[in-house]
Amino acid sequence: MPNILLGVSGSIAAYRACDIARELMRAGHTVRVAMTRAATRLVSPDTFAALTGNPVAIDVFDEPESGQIAHIRWAQDADLVLIAPATAHTIARLAFGLADDMLTTIALATRAPMLIAPAMNPAMWTHPATQAHVQTLQARGVEFISPAYGVMACGDEGWGKIADTATIVQAVARRLLSARDLEGVRVLVTAGPTYEPIDPVRFIGNRSSGKMGYAVAEAAIAHGAQVTLITGPTMLTPPAQAQVIRVQTALQMYEAVQNEFAQCDAFIATAAVADYRPERTLPKKRKRDTQSWTLNLVPNPDILGEVAQRKEHRIVIGFAAETDKAIIRAKNKLLRKNLDLIAVNDVMEPDSGFEVDTNRLSFIFANGRVENLPLMSKRECAERLIQALAAMMERKVRHTNSQE
Ligand SMILES: Cc1cc2nc3c(=O)[nH]c(=O)nc-3n(C[C@H](O)[C@H](O)[C@H](O)COP(=O)(O)O)c2cc1C
Repeated sequence: MPNILLGVSGSIAAYRACDIARELMRAGHTVRVAMTRAATRLVSPDTFAALTGNPVAIDVFDEPESGQIAHIRWAQDADLVLIAPATAHTIARLAFGLADDMLTTIALATRAPMLIAPAMNPAMWTHPATQAHVQTLQARGVEFISPAYGVMACGDEGWGKIADTATIVQAVARRLLSARDLEGVRVLVTAGPTYEPIDPVRFIGNRSSGKMGYAVAEAAIAHGAQVTLITGPTMLTPPAQAQVIRVQTALQMYEAVQNEFAQCDAFIATAAVADYRPERTLPKKRKRDTQSWTLNLVPNPDILGEVAQRKEHRIVIGFAAETDKAIIRAKNKLLRKNLDLIAVNDVMEPDSGFEVDTNRLSFIFANGRVENLPLMSKRECAERLIQALAAMMERKVRHTNSQE
C-alpha cells in the first residue's frame, strides 16, 4: 500500500488535514503525519495520531519512533509527500531548502514526488514573494494543487482557500499512478552542448545549458523510468538516480549513444550536438600573430538521424531549435529522421530556448498532429513530454497485446 507523508503547517485550514488523512486512509494508503509547531497550535497532534494509528513527527530531536531517525526513514519510506495545508511560510522554507523542523527536513531528504495544497489569505497567495517560491518549487517538479476562490476565515475574498478534499485526494491518486507509468522503461537522454576542440584551450561550442535535457531526465525518473543521461559539458548537477555518462565532443556523444541505444526503450535527444568540428585539433595552443586563421570544419555524424533509422520497437524523440519557419522545418526533420515526436522551439524568442528557465514548445507527432504548449518552465515542458512518451508507450503495448 502506498505510504503517504502528510505535512500539516500552521494554517487555519489545518483542521481540514484530518479529513484529508481519513480519505487517504480510506483509499488504502498508509498515512504518517509531520506537523509544524504552528500547526500544533491549531490542531492537536493526538488527533492525527488517533486518526492514522501512527505517531506524529514535529521536531527532529524528538524521535516519534525510538531507535529510528525519522527524518531520513520517513523520507525514504514515503511514496508521496503531500503538504496540506501549506502556509506561505512553509512554502518559502521549502523553496529555500531550509530544514528547521521535521516536515521541512523530511521534504529535503525525500526523493518521493511532492504535492502542495496552499492555504492562505489572498494577499499572501498573490504576493510576488510567494509566487516566486511557487515557481521555484514547480521548476523542481513539485506539483501545486491550486487554491480555490472564496471567502476566507478573516473575511477577505479571493484566491487562497485550500482546495477541497476530493480534489486533493484525486491529485494524490493521479500522481501515484503517473509515478509508475514508466516503471521498467529504459530511457536514454542526451543533454547539453558539445565542445569541438580547436587546440588544447579553445573549442567551438554552442549556447545550450543542458537545462531542458536534465529536466527531461528528472521527469522520466519521476515517472519511474530507468534513465541513462549522456551529457555534454554543463554547470548542472545531474539527477542522483540517473546513470550518467559525461562526454565533451560530438564524436564521444555519438559513441556513447551507439553503446547505449540497444539497451533503451526510448531515446530522447535534447543535446545540441555540433554539426561541424575542426578537421584537426592543434596539439599546442596557437599563439597570437598577425596572420588571419582559417579553420577547416568537417561534418559530425547525425546521431539522432542515424540511430532512428534502426529504432525497431523504440520510441525516438528529437528536439529542434529553429530560428525561422520552425514548424515547417521541424516537420521535415521528423519525417527525414523517422522520429515519433519532435519538440520544436523558436530560439529567437527571448523567453524560449537556450540558457533561460522557460520554454515555449510545439510537439509534432508522427501522424502530423501539432500541439502548441504555452510558455512554461522547462520542468513543466519536460513533464508534458514525458506524459506524451508514456501515452505512446501505452498505445504501443496495447497494439502489441491486441496482435498477440
Ligand atoms: C489563527 C491563525 C491562522 C493562520 N492561518 C494561516 C493560513 O491560512 N496561511 C498562512 O500562510 N499562514 C497562516 N497563519 C500564519 C502562520 O501560522 C505563521 O506564518 C506561521 O509562522 C507558519 O508557520 P509554519 O509554516 O511553520 O506552520 C495563521 C496564523 C494564525 C494565528
